[in-house]
Amino acid sequence: MASYLDELIVKYSDDKKKVSSKEKLIEKPVLNNSPTSEIKKVFTEKKKIPVQDNNHKKNTISTPSSQNLDDLLLKHKIVDFSSPQPKNVFKEKEIISSQPKTSIEDLNKPTDAFESNTQVKNREDALSKLKSLENNKDINPDELQPKNDTIIEAQEETIEGATVIAKYNKVKIYRLDSQSLLHYSVPVPKPNPSQKIIINTLKEATTRLVSSDPYKIKDHLQRKNIYYQKVLDILETAQEINIPKHLYPFYADAVVKEMTGYGIIEPLLDDDKLEEIMIVGPKKPVYVYHIDYGMMTTNIMFYSDDGINDIIDKIARSIGRNVDIANPLLDARLPDGSRVNATVPPASIDGSTITIRKFREDPYTIIDLINFKTLNLEVASFLWCVVEGFGAKPSNILISGGTGSGKTTTLNVLANFIPESDRILTIEDTAELNLPIKHVIRFEGRPPGLEGKGELSLEILTKNTLRMRPDRIIVGEIRHKEATTLFTAMNTGHDGCMGTVHANSAKETIVRLTSPPMNVPPLMLAGIDFIIIQKRLRTAKGQVRRITAIAEIKGVLDGDPKINMVFAWNPQTDMLERTSNPIMYLDIIKTYTNLNDADIKKKISDRAQILQNLIDKKIRVIHDVSKEIQKEYIIKR
Ligand SMILES: Nc1ncnc2c1ncn2[C@@H]1O[C@H](COP(=O)(O)OP(=O)(O)OP(=O)(O)O)[C@@H](O)[C@H]1O
Ligand SMILES: [Mg+2]
Repeated sequence: MASYLDELIVKYSDDKKKVSSKEKLIEKPVLNNSPTSEIKKVFTEKKKIPVQDNNHKKNTISTPSSQNLDDLLLKHKIVDFSSPQPKNVFKEKEIISSQPKTSIEDLNKPTDAFESNTQVKNREDALSKLKSLENNKDINPDELQPKNDTIIEAQEETIEGATVIAKYNKVKIYRLDSQSLLHYSVPVPKPNPSQKIIINTLKEATTRLVSSDPYKIKDHLQRKNIYYQKVLDILETAQEINIPKHLYPFYADAVVKEMTGYGIIEPLLDDDKLEEIMIVGPKKPVYVYHIDYGMMTTNIMFYSDDGINDIIDKIARSIGRNVDIANPLLDARLPDGSRVNATVPPASIDGSTITIRKFREDPYTIIDLINFKTLNLEVASFLWCVVEGFGAKPSNILISGGTGSGKTTTLNVLANFIPESDRILTIEDTAELNLPIKHVIRFEGRPPGLEGKGELSLEILTKNTLRMRPDRIIVGEIRHKEATTLFTAMNTGHDGCMGTVHANSAKETIVRLTSPPMNVPPLMLAGIDFIIIQKRLRTAKGQVRRITAIAEIKGVLDGDPKINMVFAWNPQTDMLERTSNPIMYLDIIKTYTNLNDADIKKKISDRAQILQNLIDKKIRVIHDVSKEIQKEYIIKR
């Protein structure tokens, strides 16, 4: 017999059914065009959404900062887009007119009881911009509807007489008769004139009507949510604009993309095969550096500095910086981790520039570097042993090379050999290192703010790490006074420090370290165990990266550090070969441990075998490689 409690449960669920029958379940709109994968995810994850029947007057949604897009979209009135969409704008207008009428003026309500004069002015500005859309003769209603219902048409470049030499996704790579560089072409979404007017006006109005400064919200998804919601809110309220209701998400997406995205360079940012994106000024093609084809021109071009400055502004504001005549240089990081450098006139005299070193979601590993022939198996295994330190003395290593020679990548690869039991502290100007190890604390420097205050130099950060019981200190790029701090650490028993230096040889590394602004006292250089030289070389096959030398500091005689070259690259064999010079570090290891030459040799060849197995099994992803490396240390204990 059913208990009283069971009856209650049945009754309660009946009541619930009654309530839900008042709600209508509709299919969520499928936004193929959605600019943000996050937004797309929300729409694809939740297919059915309850919507109140009294469809509706304006449904104003407040956007608390903690809400995610999921919550926001669920709370927002969703229109049924599953049924065939009316192509005719005026049909939509009829539907709107049958509903309680709201107007642009309804947006003219203070959102904050204590509005500042600027807020009032912003609101008035936004309303006048929106009003300018009403009866705007330049807007052709037929152009409002995107051709394929979802996305702004992307235009493909047509180049007569050019040969397509490669094609992937939407990218085509051409060989042009007229230039030595290959040409990269990707369809660029171009809104038509009517769409452009609507998107720009909505963008300007939204910026003014969002009451809090969205750049204070660090989470970029949350920031996108706020904009997205505000555009929907404006479109629903300002019915004079006459956008067909089923296009609200289309325009909200387009506006959010304009406000938070990177415009016409987005297709380049999405291409994992690009290492670098280089905007070199207005009226010149954007250049890219392709993994397989090297430097190329593209079909993407900015026609004035304004377009470039728009992107620079966005990046700068997101990190609370300002780029202008007084501060014409910017170092920053995009939300995806890519490193950015931007310059504006008068620093770059021919116009604004942006250089983006794209972040690799899937970082290179030692297996990749062996496959690329940047180093061979034996050297890889040797470096594994010296980074780990034969269980006795982890070595202090500097990686030197020119710009883009792959120093940071090699540093990251070598740092993967650090046992998980070590506490790692990394210090970088722009955080680029990407280690799969849990016990890592990452520090990022910061230039001084507008009043010249608030600088976090690498020197301050390096000094601070010394108070944090580090096992390993890794300085991304050693350039200034942090060098002396790091070398003091190396000379006072902090083994296993690593970093990179811009220099082309071991000798040049020493000169740079001991000259201004680094000024490391020559005697301290004895703290370095190895200097690894890496180069980007031009070959018949294109550009390749090679470790061209590994050197030791043999000691400092009369203030002059002596170099002991232990591996040197042979251009004939394209191999990094062992020289006849004894490796002093291994002699030190023998004094620290009971290992003899044969034991050391065996350890190196055992680890070479582990790496060879990974190569044979085609295991190269960082987490898998790292797991195999760490296994070695578990077995040891
Ligand atoms: N060994 C390699 N083989 C092929 N490509 C590499 C190799 N090492 C790095 N790369 C690629 O080359 C580019 C530059 O690498 P990285 O950032 O490591 O160079 P860098 O010397 O630190 O540059 P910078 O001087 O600008 O700091 C990256 O896109 C990276 O993916
Ligand atoms: Mg680097």
